[in-house]
Order: sequence, then C-alpha cells, then structure tokens
Amino acid sequence: MFFRKNSSPNNELESHVKGSRDSKSIDSVKTISEVETTSDTEDVHDVVSLKQKAIEDTRKQLEQDLAVKHYFHRKLMDTLDLGLLASLEEKTARTELQNAVCQLMDDDNEHPLSLEGRQRVLSQIEDEVFGLGPLEPLLKDTSVSDILVNGAKNVYVERFGRLEKTPYTFLDDRHLRNIIDRIVSLVGRRIDEASPMVDARLTDGSRVNAIIPPLAIDGPSVSIRRFAVDRLTMDNLLELDSVSPEMAMFVEGAVKGELNVLISGGTGSGKTTTLNIFSGFIPSDQRIITIEDSAELQLQQPHVIRLETRPANLEGKGEITQRELVKNSLRMRPDRIVVGEVRGSEAVDMLSAMNTGHDGSLATIHANTPRDALSRVENMFAMAGWTISAKNLRSQIASAIHIVVQMERQEDGKRRMVSIQEINGMEGEVITMSEIFRFEREGVDSEGNVKGKYVATGVVPDCHSHLTKRGIDVPFELFNDLK
Ligand SMILES: Nc1ncnc2c1ncn2[C@@H]1O[C@H](COP(=O)(O)OP(=O)(O)OP(=O)(O)O)[C@@H](O)[C@H]1O
Ligand SMILES: [Mg+2]
Repeated sequence: MFFRKNSSPNNELESHVKGSRDSKSIDSVKTISEVETTSDTEDVHDVVSLKQKAIEDTRKQLEQDLAVKHYFHRKLMDTLDLGLLASLEEKTARTELQNAVCQLMDDDNEHPLSLEGRQRVLSQIEDEVFGLGPLEPLLKDTSVSDILVNGAKNVYVERFGRLEKTPYTFLDDRHLRNIIDRIVSLVGRRIDEASPMVDARLTDGSRVNAIIPPLAIDGPSVSIRRFAVDRLTMDNLLELDSVSPEMAMFVEGAVKGELNVLISGGTGSGKTTTLNIFSGFIPSDQRIITIEDSAELQLQQPHVIRLETRPANLEGKGEITQRELVKNSLRMRPDRIVVGEVRGSEAVDMLSAMNTGHDGSLATIHANTPRDALSRVENMFAMAGWTISAKNLRSQIASAIHIVVQMERQEDGKRRMVSIQEINGMEGEVITMSEIFRFEREGVDSEGNVKGKYVATGVVPDCHSHLTKRGIDVPFELFNDLK
C-alpha cells in the first residue's frame, strides 16, 4: 500500500483541484494575448512593453512553479511508490497522488504556496506522473496544431498558422529525454544512440518525430503534428484570405463533379488542410477510401475507410507501402480515393485508376508550381521503373488529372491558394494547362505583409460544360473578373 503519513486530506483543495483538471491549463499564456491596446492614445511602445512584461511575468511564474514542482516531485518519489501507482486504476491513482502531494505541501515549511499555487504545482506533478509533463497543457489546447521542442528550453507552438514561443520548458535534456522515452514506448519503439530518430504516435492520433544527440546537435528535438485540433474549414480559409469566394465555389463544384484534383504545395503550405476541406465536399452517400502515411485527414462523411501505411519493424520486415494500399483500395469498391500525399510508385496505380473510371480522386503532392507537380509525377513513374516514352507518359498524366491547385506559404506566414489550373491535353510532347484563377502579388507593405488580390484570368475551363451537364452550379461569372 502507499505510504502517507499523518493523512489529513484537504478536501477543499482536492475538490478544487479535480475541478481544475479539465480547464485549459495555459491560462497564463492566454493572458498574454489578452493584453491588447487599451486606448487609441496609448503609445504603441507601451503596448509592446506591456505584452513583453506579461510574457516575462508568465515565464517567471512558470519557472518558479517548475522549481517548486521539481522539489515536491522529488520528495514525492521518496514517499510514494510511483511504479505501484501506475498499476492502479487511474481515478484511484490520481486521488492517492493528490492526497500524498497535499500532505507533503502541508508538512513543508520551505515552499509556502497559495491555494492557487498548490493547484498549479499539483496539476504539473500529475502531468509528470500520468502524462507528458510540460507538453500536457499544450496537448489539451485544441487551438495548437503543432508543438515543436528544440532542446529543453525552447518550446514553440503553431496556432492558426502562426508560430509562437511558449513559456513552457523542461528542467534539462534528461527530463526531455524521459518524456520522449515515454512517447516512443507507447508505440513499442525505443530511442537511443543506436537508433537516434523515431516516428511515433500519441494515443489521440498526433504524429510525433523525435531525434536526439548526436544527430540533433543542440539537444533532443521533438516535433508533434496534432491530430485532435480544430481543423480549418473553407469558411476559415475565406476569413483568413487564403482563397477567394470564386475559387472556393469552383473547387467545391470540381470535387462534387468528380474531377481528379491534385493539391500541390511546399512543406507546411496547407496541402493536408486543403485536402481535408476538399474531401468535405464529397457527397455523403459515396464510399471514400483514404490512404495516408500517417492518418491526418478527418472526414465527416459516414462512409469512410481510413488506411494507413506500416513502416518496417525492427528486423526490417512487414512494411506496407502506399502503393500496396492503393492497389488494395481498388478492390474495395471505392467511389473516391483520397491519397494524403503522393510520393512514390503509388502514383502509377493511382493514375491508372483515374484513367480507368475512378474519377473524383484527390491527392496532394510536394511541388512549388503546378508544372513542377506534373514533372514530379513523371519522375515517380520513372522511379517505379516505367520505361514508356515521355510523350505517352505525359498523355496518361494529362488525361488522368483534371485540376491542379497550388498552395503557397508566403513570407508573411500566410497560406494562399496561389493558382488553380486546368489540364487541357497535349500539344506535341508538352502537357497544356490553363490558369483559371491566381493570386496576383502587388508587393509587400511596411509590416511585411504580402499585398495582392485573387483574380480570375478570364479563361472559362473546359470542365465547365461537364459540370453544368452534371447539374453542378458553377456560374459563368466566376471566371470573368470584369463583372
Ligand atoms: N490557409 C491557412 N491559413 C492559416 N494556417 C493554415 C492554413 N492552412 C493550413 N494552415 C496551418 O498550417 C499548418 C500546416 O498545414 P498542413 O498540415 O495542411 O500543411 P502541409 O502542406 O500538409 O504540411 P506538410 O508539408 O508537413 O505535409 C497547420 O498548422 C495548419 O493548421
Ligand atoms: Mg501534409
């Protein structure tokens, strides 16, 4: 049994603490953003320094809490068998832990704490014992889409496309390593000098990559792509000015009208987010099969089958590639195939499926322009060992893919749909494409924001009549910028 001397549980604190478990534990971070301009007359510099002070105060508070937490955490380890605690049912274990920590705090004279301070420290100790330590409050915040840890002292998050540094830190690299070990052991992997980088998954589906020294020179590094986040919708994209209403209407029609759409973009340009939004336009009576390396898509339709590749095990066996999954999906009577990111030989099977009646497929590809995207597909065929002539290959590509949508992360940090192009066919050996919409850059303002506007080029896409015949309302005026 656990050891608790002079047990006198502080009921008031306990109930308060339990109540506080589910509340957002990053209140302190939120208060920073709440320090907004209070009056028009206030000097900008005052506002900036007020914000900086708030950040500094929060950081100091967290540092103090961390030091106190460390103190009590150590003491706790001397009095409580944490291993045994882990074997208990979680609710009982938490109660035991809360009682033990409260007792330690009651008996302690060195670190007097307010009731609020006690709750904060207790919550952090619970996160250490049952969760992922300082990462835990960030994982509970559903507005956080990425968590990036660069060594023990630098923890960044991305919210709605913006990267910000958080006041959270780990005590030292060893502490960070312990948390990494906990993450990778969840998926039965290990990380050490012999295998210093690992991909893992949290129980909520978030994708984790960890890399440690000697490969990561300045200390262990962790990158978490959150799964359970508030996914952006087309309305959000419109609010964020990532797309124009005309473009949004056109792509919705294209997806509903079963055109094959390729979403192209660089790293972090919003490809997966866009794919998720586009997939949302697929009618809900259709059977959708998604294929991903790491399941990120969150489709709302009732008839979705999610497939995910499997890496080789430690002996190098058992790998299942995207190509095998694409082949298998064709035997599953799909109405639509959605591929998270086309990277390799699966392009061959995907394109031949598109050319043989599996219309309405969606995929993303890593490329900087629509033209590059097509060259990349071509390279994937070559890498898969295809030796047909360039002309034949290109005409296959041209007839398989209908629309290429280009995403870009621009230097002001904003993601924009910079081009929508239709593939028309072949001219000699070259695939012909026409741009339907584009983002026209006009410059950069004094604050570094990219200026520009979305325009229709005036070209009416060939697919317009196809869409109209299918009863999909894509008004002519969308394509005419002089309206
Ligand atoms: N239009 C947008 N405006 C603001 N933020 C966005 C937008 N689209 C995506 N994001 C955010 O940008 C980040 C990266 O998005 P996403 O995962 O869709 O990009 P990606 O191109 O698929 O990245 P990767 O190359 O890692 O696969 C996410 O945090 C996402 O929430
Ligand atoms: Mg992606």
